[in-house]
Amino acid sequence: MKRSIGITINGEVYEETVDQRLLLVDFIREVAGLTGTHVGCSVEGRCGACTVVLNGKAVKACLLLAVQADGASVLTIEGLARDDALHPIQDGFWEKHGLQCGFCTPGLLMTLYEFLQNPKHSDEEIRTAMSGVICRCTGYVHIVEAVKHAIATVEALPPQERKEWFNE
Ligand code: FES
Ligand code: FES
Repeated sequence: MKRSIGITINGEVYEETVDQRLLLVDFIREVAGLTGTHVGCSVEGRCGACTVVLNGKAVKACLLLAVQADGASVLTIEGLARDDALHPIQDGFWEKHGLQCGFCTPGLLMTLYEFLQNPKHSDEEIRTAMSGVICRCTGYVHIVEAVKHAIATVEALPPQERKEWFNE
């Protein structure tokens, strides 16, 4: 069965008549054409590569149907940077070499986007927060350093600027 839905992704509304079984990750990649959201585990919810922010919460887009996101607001990796400036979490990964092949990186960044809105976190909390995303090549030490760099950046931001970076 088909249904007409509309999902706002990175501020742009995408309206489409879709099969009710279409996954949100496939809507993002195939309907919206935003292929920065990856599929890594044959949509079993295990790898976290498909993580996006849905109405402010990090979700695995392979575990949701597109129809469940009808009317919702989604932020993907393509919507993180502003006016050519990297988001603080992107900058942290850049500065601390938090990636190698980059396959897991969009999922990690979108997972941490929600987490960083409250930047007071211990190393253990950082590791717990990103435990739903599997990185196969970097090793997590650099990733934790990247997140700590981002936390320091976010903490130093004036309140208004911080709000702007975390306003979908
Ligand atoms: S594709 Fe692996 S958790 Fe969604
Ligand atoms: S950087 Fe290669 S899988 Fe994470």
